Amino acid sequence: MQDLWTKVDNYFGDLLIPTDDKLDAARLANEKAGLPPIDVTGLQGRFLEFLVRVSGARRVLEIGTLGGYSTIWLARALPQGGSVVTLELDPHHAEVACNNFKNAGVLDRVELIVGPALETLPGLEKTRAPFDLIFIDADKQSYPHYLNWALKLSRPGTVIVADNVVREGKVIEPDCDDPNVQGVRRFTEFLAAEPRLSATVLQTVGTKGYDGFALAVVLS
Ligand code: SAH
Ligand code: DHB
Ligand code: MG
Repeated sequence: MQDLWTKVDNYFGDLLIPTDDKLDAARLANEKAGLPPIDVTGLQGRFLEFLVRVSGARRVLEIGTLGGYSTIWLARALPQGGSVVTLELDPHHAEVACNNFKNAGVLDRVELIVGPALETLPGLEKTRAPFDLIFIDADKQSYPHYLNWALKLSRPGTVIVADNVVREGKVIEPDCDDPNVQGVRRFTEFLAAEPRLSATVLQTVGTKGYDGFALAVVLS
């Protein structure tokens, strides 16, 4: 099936996502710098753009920058005066991302904070919160903690979106010894148990295989 998923992804991507010098340059820079090719696809970047636009988000938080490919999509979707705070553990990833932001002309709208997100998130509570949209895409074993922080840094109406919650379907294996799978399972249980959230999951297939996004809105 992967071959067909890739062809269909390319079909829609070629039609709906015009080639873009800045985004292409960011992907190329990531590859040259040896970053893993795990950024969102073009169609998924457009999906993030869509979420920012329909929610009218002005303040966006991203956990897991990599080379900033998804950040550029989020930043470009913002209205005048909007901003993205993006958190990245790896200084090398952060350096590549910073250059990509410069080249893409979004540096004025992006704040990149380097360090383990669980150590940098507390600093956002007084100064940057509440966020209107929060994109969780860092280490999967910490997803439950990130969701806890997302709630702390939110207001009623905040959109929370998390990448990679299906893990090729491994999410349904209770005894899976992959800590990433256990992370997304605990995350999903948290989503289910939290009365402040209304949540769903969209399974996805495409060039990145079989995975999915969790989507939640903060009710109160
Ligand atoms: N959002 C990016 C992809 C992120 S990949 C895009 O779509 O373009 C996941 C990133 O999370 C990696 O760069 C990894 O270094 C980072 N990461 C892993 N653990 C982290 C942590 N504890 N805190 C912050 N970032 C972390
Ligand atoms: C991985 C991480 C991601 O955020 C992703 O979208 C795909 C894969 C990973 O760590 O393997
Ligand atoms: Mg991801």
